[in-house]
Amino acid sequence: NTGALWGGRFADGPSAELAALSKSTHFDWQLAPYDIAGSRAHARALNAAGYLTEDELERMLAGLDRLADAHATGELQPDDSDEDVHGALERLLIADVGPELGGKLRAGRSRNDQIATLGRMHMLDHARRIGHLVIDLVDALSQQANEHPGAIMPGRTHLQHAQPVLLAHHLLAHAWPLVRDLERLRDWSTRASVSPYGAGALAGSSLGLDPTAIALELGFARPADNSIDATAGRDVVAEFAFVLAQIGIDVSRLAEEVILWNTKEFGFVRLHDAFSTGSSIMPQKKNPDIAELARGKSGRLLGNLTGLLATFKGLPLAYNRDLQEDKEPVFDSVEQLEVLLPAFTGMVAALTFDTERMAELAPQGFSLATDVAEWLVRQGVPFRDAHEVSGALVRHCEERGIELDDPTDDEYRAVSEHLTPEVRSVLTIEGSVASRSGAGGTAPDRVAEQLTSLTQRVREL
Ligand code: ARG
Repeated sequence: NTGALWGGRFADGPSAELAALSKSTHFDWQLAPYDIAGSRAHARALNAAGYLTEDELERMLAGLDRLADAHATGELQPDDSDEDVHGALERLLIADVGPELGGKLRAGRSRNDQIATLGRMHMLDHARRIGHLVIDLVDALSQQANEHPGAIMPGRTHLQHAQPVLLAHHLLAHAWPLVRDLERLRDWSTRASVSPYGAGALAGSSLGLDPTAIALELGFARPADNSIDATAGRDVVAEFAFVLAQIGIDVSRLAEEVILWNTKEFGFVRLHDAFSTGSSIMPQKKNPDIAELARGKSGRLLGNLTGLLATFKGLPLAYNRDLQEDKEPVFDSVEQLEVLLPAFTGMVAALTFDTERMAELAPQGFSLATDVAEWLVRQGVPFRDAHEVSGALVRHCEERGIELDDPTDDEYRAVSEHLTPEVRSVLTIEGSVASRSGAGGTAPDRVAEQLTSLTQRVREL
């Protein structure tokens, strides 16, 4: 049982089967830099409490620095026999500074408070990285909105033509949820910035080590208030996985639209060659694989979240080994988003919109019928009647296979006495979007303001 962190009370070493089951080194080794940072802070706390002399502290820190350097170059690797990152690093430290000194580092800490701390450090780092990637996507959407200030598209409900909207308005409707995701990451970070170090296995340390000093050295705002909660609580993991899943889902909704817009039937966008793929058999194909992978990966992120919640449900306090299962789903969600978002942002930034096609389709499907009804309201007709009149006009046009602005003055009058020829003033898509000038509406001026306030919100993050 050489190298294990436990074994004193065992007459026999672990079976090969147990070792294979128990082992986490193949995934927790990526926490090594955080483990080493934790050990540095812990060594200083041991020194401050009188358990390491100045000379011992110096030699210990030098040894840890050598481990960190060797890790950075990829030279430092765990052994097959290492159960986890903590055991591997203790073994490697002892090999470097000797068993006398190396054996002192573990005093007053447990893998339970360690792993809870390292997990948070890992998540906080990647929350920052993913935040930057989400900002890049918001920027790409804002840029596209900015470059198409006047383009009008068919706005849809139930996937049916509903009312014309500005393309910029629609693109920003995808940006706002991402801005809220950024705010979620920020709010989550505040809650996550609490250090479990010093909680020990569950009950705290008897050695008088200062958890505040360790917390601050590791970049946390403060140490945890309750050592049991610190080692056993994982809501912070589930919440992080939720925010990542929500980012995936927000991206997947845009992905689905890009896939639709890119069909022959819609013909709203063209994908850049660098961000689309071909077929191995059909030479003509240009496929929206990035968008499809975004849609697919969102399911995977959701699976990671629900898997975590299922693991945590009903777990008694305090630490249970089940909690080892919290690492891989989070690592996976992080990895997936960090590879997806740059590709997705590149695709969005390089989209070419066929604004003529959009404008041509925007008034079809009688999407200006609401404008007729609201014009009647402005003429003093009660909305209930206006809705009926506009509906009758739609029926009239549908039967004849014409659009709402095609009838003659007499035909309008035959549908209703309220339908004077002036109604034609609202029967353009430009007139329709311009009239929706209330706060948050699709009128060009409102959308320009919206873009400014969205940019401001991101800047304030
Ligand atoms: N590898 C464990 C985890 O990821 C940490 C070690 C705690 N193990 C233990 N037997 N108390 O949660």
